[in-house]
Amino acid sequence: MTDESTFEVTDCAIIGRTYEEYLAMFGLEPAELEGRRVLDCPSGVASFVATATDRGVDAVGADVVYRWSPDDLADRCREDRESVAEQLAEKTHLFEWSYYDSPTDRRRYLERASERFLEDYPDGREAGRYVPAALPSLPFAEGSFSLVLSAHFLFLYDDRFDYEFHLEAIRELARVATDEVRVYPLQGLDAEPSDHLEGSITTLETEGYEPAIESVPFEFQSGSTEMLVLRL
Ligand SMILES: C[S@@+](CC[C@H](N)C(=O)[O-])C[C@H]1O[C@@H](n2cnc3c(N)ncnc32)[C@H](O)[C@@H]1O
Repeated sequence: MTDESTFEVTDCAIIGRTYEEYLAMFGLEPAELEGRRVLDCPSGVASFVATATDRGVDAVGADVVYRWSPDDLADRCREDRESVAEQLAEKTHLFEWSYYDSPTDRRRYLERASERFLEDYPDGREAGRYVPAALPSLPFAEGSFSLVLSAHFLFLYDDRFDYEFHLEAIRELARVATDEVRVYPLQGLDAEPSDHLEGSITTLETEGYEPAIESVPFEFQSGSTEMLVLRL
């Protein structure tokens, strides 16, 4: 039996969103990516990097699971996708059904993203497009990317990564960026604002960053309509 009041994952779900979902989650227009070097971290089995690359954007994904072989990653992500899809059908009340029509539609998006990622992963890993990395430490030089995107990890898993981890990870994402860091969502898996959000914003402000909370034209987890932006 699963708990009805929260969306459960063990560890971190190895699932991913599409390029189109990324644009909506981060309130981006395709033109805003043109000519920029973009980091997606953690990228998981999202197809943002693959599609952005097809569209001529210099995009790189970083994630702990890029240590895994393509076969191991394919097995795990298909398992996680099915488990998430099953829970979605049971817990429709935790979500807003406007971007996705139904649990079946949402499942199709998950499938499209991860299958596109899995096609791109073997060659992309060789080409340096998928880089194994474990936050809060990234294997990139300072200012390597113009824009850094971080979706469905920080704040969402606030029950298993503590406040210090969040701060260190956000500082690290900012270290490798020249222009902007965007983080979405700002709620935990229980759909409540993350316990680490207020403290992180206050500390980042005292350190000279200018964190801002901005609305995005996307909502799936009820109430998750905002991202954190650091303009550097
Ligand atoms: C739910 S997925 C998000 C994928 C993608 N950003 C999206 O929104 O579809 C969370 C990802 O965080 C990765 N992850 C967990 N701990 C990590 C760490 N310390 N450093 C980097 N990635 C990590 C997991 O491997 C997983 O792929």
